[in-house]
Amino acid sequence: PHLSPEELKGLVRTVPDFPHPGIQFRDITTLIGHHQGMAASVHHLAAAARDAGADKIAGMEARGFIFGAAVAVQLGVGFVPVRKPGKLPIPTIGIDYALEYGTDRLEVDPGAIGAGENVVIVDDLIATGGTALASAELLRRAGAAVTHALFVIDLPDLGGADRLRQAGIAVTSLMAFE
Ligand code: PRP
Ligand code: HPA
Repeated sequence: PHLSPEELKGLVRTVPDFPHPGIQFRDITTLIGHHQGMAASVHHLAAAARDAGADKIAGMEARGFIFGAAVAVQLGVGFVPVRKPGKLPIPTIGIDYALEYGTDRLEVDPGAIGAGENVVIVDDLIATGGTALASAELLRRAGAAVTHALFVIDLPDLGGADRLRQAGIAVTSLMAFE
């Protein structure tokens, strides 16, 4: 019997005023440090990825690696790391995307995905959706079909899940913090 999403929510630590005053930071450190918490999170995400027909799982550096790699193993499919710039030792394809202040960049191995493979995105948390939208665009450029994205935590007030749905990507999250 796995812990329910409601029980998992109780394992997330909320830290006030990090990284900026007024921000309530939802911290997964306590969730992943709890064996049943980690196992149940991966179980629920893997069930959703199976329902989505995943051929591969993609996860975003760094916290998306924690859940994404575990989901891929549970499902018996490969894992595609969506990396921060300058980390992969081969020519990459990359995408620059806007942050609140400035820009960031994500890169993938152009050979990581077969044409038309169904790649399901997994990350710990969706806030504005900028990271997930950029990842979806990048994975599509690498040949993937991207129709589903899975998150442990949704912050619905920040609108990211709505942005993904408007881009044709179905969103599943295990819990939300208003
Ligand atoms: C966090 C989180 C998501 C992203 C969500 O990662 O893990 O990837 O931000 O924000 P968004 O929906 O507004 O794009 P962060 O960039 O802090 O990196 P980390 O995983 O290395 O901690
Ligand atoms: N917690 C963790 N990561 C985040 C958050 C948060 O509240 N907001 C944006 N990224």
